[in-house]
Formats: sequence, C-alpha cells, structure tokens
Amino acid sequence: MNVIGIESSCDETSVAIISNGELKTNLVSSQDFHIEYGGVVPELSSRAHLQRINPLVKDALIKSQLTLENIDLITATAGPGLIGALLVGYTYAKGLAYSLKKTFVPVNHIEGHIFSGFLMEDKPEYPILTLVVSGGHTLLLIAESPIKIRILGTTIDDAAGEAFDKVAKMIGLGYPGGPKIQSVASKGNKDAINFPIAELKQQYHFSFSGLKTAVLRYIQALTKNGELGESQLNDIAASFQNAVVKALSRQVKKAIQNFQVKSISLVGGVAANKAIREEIINIGNKHGLKVVIPNYEFCGDNAAMIALRGQMLYESGERFSLDTPPFPSLKSKYFI
Ligand SMILES: Nc1ncnc2c1ncn2[C@@H]1O[C@H](COP(=O)(O)OP(=O)(O)OP(=O)(O)O)[C@@H](O)[C@H]1O
Ligand SMILES: [Mg+2]
Repeated sequence: MNVIGIESSCDETSVAIISNGELKTNLVSSQDFHIEYGGVVPELSSRAHLQRINPLVKDALIKSQLTLENIDLITATAGPGLIGALLVGYTYAKGLAYSLKKTFVPVNHIEGHIFSGFLMEDKPEYPILTLVVSGGHTLLLIAESPIKIRILGTTIDDAAGEAFDKVAKMIGLGYPGGPKIQSVASKGNKDAINFPIAELKQQYHFSFSGLKTAVLRYIQALTKNGELGESQLNDIAASFQNAVVKALSRQVKKAIQNFQVKSISLVGGVAANKAIREEIINIGNKHGLKVVIPNYEFCGDNAAMIALRGQMLYESGERFSLDTPPFPSLKSKYFI
C-alpha cells in the first residue's frame, strides 16, 4: 500500500510517502520568512503553502519512484491549525482523492504527533504513556490502542512551546524561541535561579503562565540597573529550561506510579529539546520502560506522521467521507 501525507497546518508545507510500511520520503519546506515578524502571519503562510504544495508533491513522487496512479491512500491534516493554511493542503488532497477515485483519510495533527514514535524502527508498545509538547499543546496521555487515547492532563494556560517562545522574546532571543533558549541555556547554570513550578489541584495538569511571569519579574528587577549581561542571560535561560523540565517530569513520574504502561514516548516540536529528552530517557530507564522519542525531523511538523496516522486509522477500519471539512480547533474523536 502506498500512502501520501500532506501537512499544512501552520508554517511548514510537508509531503511524505509511505510505501508498504516504509517511509520513502518526508519533504518539509519551512517558511523561515515569518522570523522577521516575530511569529507566523496567517495570510503569508497560506500563500506560501499554495506556491509550494504542488512542486513538493511532484518531488515526493519522483523521490519515491511512484506516480499518483500508484497511490492508494491520500491523507491530509484536517486541524487543528490556521484555517487558511489548512485549507490549502486539505483541499489539494481532497482534489487528488476525488479525481483519482482514491480513499481519503483526514488526520488530526495532534494525533499525528502522538503516534509519531511509530516512525522509528523500534516502535513503542501499548499502552504508551505519551507526553505531547508542542507550540500549541501540552498533553499527558496514555495511548491504549490506535483509537483509544486516555487524556490524563493538559495545560491550563500556555503550551510548553509557547512558554519557550515567549520567554525567548522577553530576553531578546527572537522567534522561534525553543532552539534559541536551548542553545543559550547550554552556557548557563540551571540552578542559578529557583523559578517556581505551579502546584495544581488537578493531578496531571500543567501551567506555565506563572513561570513565564516569574521570568519577566526577574528580568524587570535586573534591568532596572541597565542591560542584562551575557552570563545573566545564560543563567535565566538555563534556569527557565530546568523549571520546564521539572514541571513536565513531575507529572510523568506520577503517571508511571499510578498507571501500568509498557512504553513512554515524548513527541511534538519541544521534544527536540535535549534536556527534556534526557530527562524522559532517564525516567523511562529507571522504571524499566521502553522509551521512544522520534528523531528531530519528526518532532516538528512533518507529513510523515500524517501519512502514518492516516494509514493507522485506515487499518483500524476507520472510514471517512470526502465531505469532512477541515476545522481550526479540531478535537480528536479518539480522546477519552
Ligand atoms: N530545542 C527546542 N527546545 C524547546 N522548544 C523547541 C525546540 N525546538 C522547537 N521547539 C518549540 O517547538 C514548537 C513548535 O513545535 P510544533 O511545530 O510541533 O508546534 P505547532 O505545530 O506550532 O503546534 P501544534 O502542534 O500544537 O499545533 C515551538 O514553540 C518551538 O519553540
Ligand atoms: Mg505541530
């Protein structure tokens, strides 16, 4: 079976092809021009998707030595995401499915991230304790099967990636903040500042807005007497990153104690963070769990995870109408 995946939910246009279970191609075209605006500009994003989608599909087919006629399953991100951006990839995919009379599978972007560990050679085993940390989401869940996802906790305010991006902006590092904070943090002392970690009543939820405000207050107090020095900046980044690591790992450890799981998976754009990866690997090893963290190319937005999730749903017997619309705040129907 040949599956094509199309992703266009935000600022990455991506096309992937999975052939008989093997990932043949995963092309990602990132829209770096948003950097000068300090964030993604929706209209510019849609326009760039429109320009890039067709050449990318052609390229993916050539690299996979396939033609459109060889494709059996067409999958595309249906949401959540920017509606104008989603519409480009989604409508393109539906057009292909309609004209070629092929099966179409709409894919929830977050479900794509959740199961992205299955892109690795050594696959996770159910039940999988999964920590999703991305630009828009922070979720702790247990994937019990491809179509049963038990949500344990989520963020009550900012997503982990959002906190990285906002703190990076505060200390003048620019956008996207995650990789920049990581780089600066590597030169700082993570124990220099004791930033607070939210204590919440809900057992597995997260909150990052208090941490973000604490960083802001700390910077305001320091900059009263002039600019931040380089070592101060390094320490702030390292201490902030350490607080995020602690906030995430605390909930993961609790979940391991209270639920029987076989594997642990860390996914989403923030899963590219070295300190968070190391912490999850340590926790998993300590508890004798299989740890699966996707390679960097599958942490950020990519179509490989969309093609894989589409195929997974199809093989689970799920069928969809070509009339299914995309939706900017799409909720997963498999969450319980
Ligand atoms: N090394 C890193 N450390 C921390 N954060 C990182 C790192 N690399 C990327 N990020 C963060 O990952 C986020 C982007 O992830 P992703 O592309 O999965 O999010 P998104 O698609 O915008 O949101 P969502 O998937 O929730 O819809 C950004 O917030 C970015 O700062
Ligand atoms: Mg994403």
